[in-house]
Amino acid sequence: MLNVPSQSFPGPSSQQRVASGGRSKVPLKQGRSLMDWIRLTKSGKDLTGLKGRLIEVTEEELKKHNKKDDCWICIRGFVYNVSPYMEYHPGGEDELMRAAGSDGTDLFDQVHRWVNYESMLKECLVGRMAMKPAFPKDYHEEKKVLNGMLPQSQVTDTLAKEGPSSPSYDWFQTDSLVTIVIYTKQKDINLDSVIVDHRDDSFRAETVIKDYSYLVHVALSHEIQEDFSGLFYRKCQLVSKEDVTHDTKLFCLMLPPSTHLEVPVGQHVYLRLPITGTEIVKPYTPVCDSLFSEFKEPVLPNNIYIYFLIKIYPAGFFTPELDQLQIGDYVSVSNPEGNFIISQLQELEDLFLLAAGTGFTPMVKVLNYALTNIPSLRKVKLMFFNKTEDDIIWRSQLEKLAFKDKRFEVEFVLSAPTSEWSGKQGYISPALLSEFLKRRSDTSKVLICLCGPTPFTEQGMKMLHDLNFSKDEIHSFTA
Ligand SMILES: Cc1cc2nc3c(=O)[nH]c(=O)nc-3n(C[C@H](O)[C@H](O)[C@H](O)COP(=O)(O)OP(=O)(O)OC[C@H]3O[C@@H](n4cnc5c(N)ncnc54)[C@H](O)[C@@H]3O)c2cc1C
Ligand code: HEM
Repeated sequence: MLNVPSQSFPGPSSQQRVASGGRSKVPLKQGRSLMDWIRLTKSGKDLTGLKGRLIEVTEEELKKHNKKDDCWICIRGFVYNVSPYMEYHPGGEDELMRAAGSDGTDLFDQVHRWVNYESMLKECLVGRMAMKPAFPKDYHEEKKVLNGMLPQSQVTDTLAKEGPSSPSYDWFQTDSLVTIVIYTKQKDINLDSVIVDHRDDSFRAETVIKDYSYLVHVALSHEIQEDFSGLFYRKCQLVSKEDVTHDTKLFCLMLPPSTHLEVPVGQHVYLRLPITGTEIVKPYTPVCDSLFSEFKEPVLPNNIYIYFLIKIYPAGFFTPELDQLQIGDYVSVSNPEGNFIISQLQELEDLFLLAAGTGFTPMVKVLNYALTNIPSLRKVKLMFFNKTEDDIIWRSQLEKLAFKDKRFEVEFVLSAPTSEWSGKQGYISPALLSEFLKRRSDTSKVLICLCGPTPFTEQGMKMLHDLNFSKDEIHSFTA
C-alpha cells in the first residue's frame, strides 16, 4: 500500500514555503489525499446521487446545482457532480466553486489542462449536456472519402484554429505505402514541429506552426472520433533506469516505432500511469542522455528514445510507482507543452542558468543547444543550488564540460554542506546573484533561465527585477 501524505506540500516549516504568492495548492484536511479520493471512488458509494444512472443535462438543470453540497460542473460536454470531490481538490473548494453550475472547460484548461479528470471523476459522472459545447466555436470539421487502394476509408481534416498560414495536405500511395504530404508556407520548419503517430487503423500528424496546432487525422477503415482539446498520449516502453544520485534516476523510454516525436528545447511532457485503477498524470522535462550528446539534426529514422532525470520521493504519490516499473513495462507520454521560445537564444552573448534540484532538467537541453547552435555565444554560466554534494545531478559531467568548453562555467551552491565544502553556501540571494550575473556590456544580449521549487523561482524573479534585468531577459520554467 502506498503511504501518501495527506496534507499539503511543501510542509509548513519547509524552506520551499517562504513567500509563495500567486495561485497555489491549499492544505487539505487529514484523510483527503489523492489516495484517499481513489479509495472513496472504489468504495462502491453512490457519488452522484443518481445510483449509477446517466442523464442528459439541460443548461437550466446544470445552473441549479451551484452549491458546495450540490455542485455540478460541465467539462467538454460531460457533467460531473463534484461535491464529493470538494474537500479533496488540491486547488481548494473556492477554486472549484468558480465553475459551479456552469461549463468549467475554459477555467479548467487555464489552470491544469493536463489533469486527468475523466479518470479521477468517473464515479462522479452525471451525464452529457443536452446541447454539447464540446468544441470551440471556430472549430470546423470536414470529412473526405479517400478513393483508390483504401476501401471505406475516411479522412478527418481538422484545423484547430484558423492560423496565419493554414497548411493543406495531399496524399498518394503505392502498393505498400501511403504518403501524406503537408504543405505550409512557413519557413524554418523543424522536425520537432511535427508529431506523427500511427496506431492500429489510424494515422495522426500534428503540425505546430507559430502558436497554432494543425491536425490531420486519417482513419483507414473506420471513422475516428477523438477529443481534439485534450492531450494525446502514446504508450512508451521503459528501456533502462540508471542511478544518477542517491534519489534521482535517469529513465530511458522508447517511443512506439511508428511515432515521430521530438520534444522541443525547454518544453515538458506529461507522464501518465494507472495507479490503483485511476490514471494519474505528472509533468516531466525530457533531457539528453548526457551533457555530451551533440545537438545535431538527426538522421531519419530518429530519436526513438526519450530520457528523463526523475527524483524519487519515497512518500510521493507518482514517483514510487514510476520507480517500480520493470524494464519492458509501459508508461504513457503526452505531446510536449511549454512556453520557452527557442528564438530567445538567437544572437545571445551571455546565458545564465539558475537551477535548484531537479529544476536542472530544462537546463540540460538549453545548455546543449546553446553551446552547439549559437555562434554568438560568449559565456554560459550555471549556478546550481542543492542541499548537499550528494544531491548534485551530473556533477562530474558538468565539471568535465566546463573543462572541455571554456565558454561554460558551473558554480555549485549548497544549503546544507559538510564542513569540508569549500564552495558557495546558502540559498538564492541578491548578493550571490549580483556577483554571478556579470554582463559584458550594457548592450550585450543576455538571457537568464530559472527553474526550481515555486518559492525559489518567485524569489529569484523578484531579485532579478531588482537587479534591473528586463522581463525579456528572464525566462522561468513553470507548469
Ligand atoms: C513543468 C514541470 C516539469 C517537471 N519536470 C521534472 C523533472 O524533469 N524531473 C523531476 O524529478 N520532477 C519534475 N517535476 C516535478 C514532478 O512533476 C512531480 O511534482 C514530482 O515528481 C513529485 O511527484 P510525486 O507524485 O512522486 O510526489 P508528491 O506526492 O507530489 O510529493 C512530493 C514530495 O512532497 C512530500 N509531501 C507531499 N505531501 C506532503 C505533506 N503534506 N507534508 C510534507 N511533505 C509532503 C512527499 O513526501 C514527497 O517527498 C516537474 C514539474 C513541473 C511543473
Ligand atoms: C473548473 C474549475 C477548477 C479550478 C478553477 C481549479 C483550480 C485549481 C488550482 C488553482 C489548483 C492549484 C494549482 C497549482 O498548484 O498550481 C488546482 C489543482 C488541482 N486540481 Fe483543480 N480546479 C478546477 C477543477 C478541477 C477538477 C474538476 C479536477 C478534477 C479532477 C481538478 C483537479 C485538480 C488536481 C488533481 C490538482 C493538483 C494538480 C497538481 O498536482 O499540481 N481541478 N486546481
